Amino acid sequence: MAKLIIDGGNHISGTIKVSGSKNASLPIMTASLLTDDELLLNNVPNLSDVITMQELLFSLGTEIYFDKDLEVLNLRAKNSHNFTADYEIVRKMRASIIVLGPTLVKRRIAKVALPGGCSIGSRPIDLHLKGLEAMGANIYIDNGYVFAEAKNGLQGAAIKFPFVSVGATQNIILAATLASGRTTISNAACEPEIIDLCVCLRKMGAKIIGEGTKELSITGVSELSGATHTIMADRIELGTFMLAPAIAGGEIYLEGAGLGQEINYIKKLEEMGLNFYKKDGTIRVVRRDDKIKAVDVSTSPFPGFPTDLQPQIMSVMGLAEGTSTITENVFENRFMHAPELNRMGASISIEGRKAIISGVKQYRGVPVMASDLRAAASLVLAGLAAEGKTIIDGLHHLDRGYQNIESKLAKCGVNIYRAD
Ligand code: UD1
Repeated sequence: MAKLIIDGGNHISGTIKVSGSKNASLPIMTASLLTDDELLLNNVPNLSDVITMQELLFSLGTEIYFDKDLEVLNLRAKNSHNFTADYEIVRKMRASIIVLGPTLVKRRIAKVALPGGCSIGSRPIDLHLKGLEAMGANIYIDNGYVFAEAKNGLQGAAIKFPFVSVGATQNIILAATLASGRTTISNAACEPEIIDLCVCLRKMGAKIIGEGTKELSITGVSELSGATHTIMADRIELGTFMLAPAIAGGEIYLEGAGLGQEINYIKKLEEMGLNFYKKDGTIRVVRRDDKIKAVDVSTSPFPGFPTDLQPQIMSVMGLAEGTSTITENVFENRFMHAPELNRMGASISIEGRKAIISGVKQYRGVPVMASDLRAAASLVLAGLAAEGKTIIDGLHHLDRGYQNIESKLAKCGVNIYRAD
């Protein structure tokens, strides 16, 4: 198995182009199931999750052409007879569940393997299913598959989520675009990726009001057309690279992303000791002092601090001056990276959903194992600052969400390479 080797300790200096967002690409790709026309997407990252979604859409009868160099993806759902999302593909990626809503509303039948849990939590899909049931779907679970049917099509409904779910909000929005009548979603997720999905769907002819707020209204139309859409920048990849000079020192120039309201974690990074300068489409990130400051972080749905940036900021807190805390409110088991960071010399203790991080002077490079995508990124960041070689195993996690991470960091003076 390939491993990532980082010989740490150097200041970082250079320019990185931020890729298109993984978490925006995946649901937007499933929007292709809602139309017989072509959906053309620009700025699509070449990631294993994006390839898995392509495999899944292909298995559902979609013609696909992906120009990896130009990052352009053409999708056309040709054969609308297929309605099964097979376990062999779904098991690779939980986000596969998002094909349920669009397949069901367009084909009136869908069979999707249950995604199961993962290393960060049990991750049930009850909200997705209850929402679709409220819209008239007949759903049962058998033999590890969700069977859903809507013989007379789906109908608009008033759906109130008991708590915020990004995926359930996306599934219901997608289904509601072609349902008859009006669907309202209360307590909807407000994530920027939801806004990007709605913008793309509107270009396809969907009638949606309220994206980016907790109250959404979708009036179904009889058909949707093709569209061309450019995927937003990956705000989590952006945040990960912003944390590189925080942990390693130096400065970094980030291209391809803005500092808009979607980058809502900036204040916390400033509090830690980073400065940001925006000029000509580039963000310059500099660490103010030799040491970064301890901070307290509490994750929650947007506009709260993103859980997807929690492992990475923990790596940085591990070397901060003083004691930091993290309260993880989104996933029940998202601290698997802490023991690995401790093996590198960090001083982190976990009490339920809270992590207490006492800053240490130095990390040392040791072999470590990535348990999930963002945990892998946290170990890469720790490796940048560690003395000696950090050898990271479990790279399939990293490749789900970071395009060419080693060449991007190598361009900034990091001694990093992949080896078998
Ligand atoms: C999405 C993101 C993921 C991010 C997460 C939270 C994608 C592809 N993935 O995941 O990177 O970490 O949002 O920002 O965009 N839950 C239920 N029942 C449900 C649905 C969710 O109990 O039916 C729970 C989950 O277990 C979790 C919480 O709700 O504890 C939030 O999950 P959700 O927002 O749905 O995350 P995903 O959409 O899976």
